[in-house]
Amino acid sequence: MQIFIDSADVKELKALAETGLIDGVTTNPSLVAKAGRNFFETLEEICAAVPGPVSAEVVAQDYETMLAEGRKLRGVAKNIVVKAPLTPDGLRACKTLEDEGHPVNVTLCFSAPQALLAAKAGASYISPFIGRLDDNGQDGMALIREIRATYDNYDFQTQILAASIRNAAHVRDAAIAGADCATIPPAVFRSLYKHVLTDTGLEAFLKDWRTTGQSIL
Ligand code: E4P
Repeated sequence: MQIFIDSADVKELKALAETGLIDGVTTNPSLVAKAGRNFFETLEEICAAVPGPVSAEVVAQDYETMLAEGRKLRGVAKNIVVKAPLTPDGLRACKTLEDEGHPVNVTLCFSAPQALLAAKAGASYISPFIGRLDDNGQDGMALIREIRATYDNYDFQTQILAASIRNAAHVRDAAIAGADCATIPPAVFRSLYKHVLTDTGLEAFLKDWRTTGQSIL
């Protein structure tokens, strides 16, 4: 499963890129607002720091303006993916942009029929929002399974990008359900390394090693 980071914090993204484990980045208007910086400068810096796909979202609601915004965003860097909402205009813009060779991530997906439409519009990525469904009393992970089954039935190539991830269990379950990618907040990504038995096991190994009086270097 590809690991994307869900953030517009350039400093944070640069640090995480050094792990060598990051395949891409997703941003959204709320994350850009939280970062509090110029959108285009931020995107340029993220795209330079992370060589993989970097999703940048259009904010227009109508087809023509979405196209103009999408084309402009794609001009920032080769690894920009245009993010468009799952609306009739958003999917129409997705189809046109994909036909022009611009990859599109269709965002704000909350049902399998919506994901089916995005695949038919030729989307490179579909972003089902797991955490927000859970927050709404629904089963977010069930949606990943439904989309996986739907896409596999018809051999759709649209990649499932599990989004709105809240914890390590979401990452585990999205991987088991066959999501192609997961976009993970920085704090959740860091939590993936952690297990108490790793910490206590390492402590015990190092304690025993010290008793040998030896050194490797
Ligand atoms: C996806 O691309 C979105 O940026 C993101 O995952 C939304 O997550 P949230 O529900 O935590 O805002």
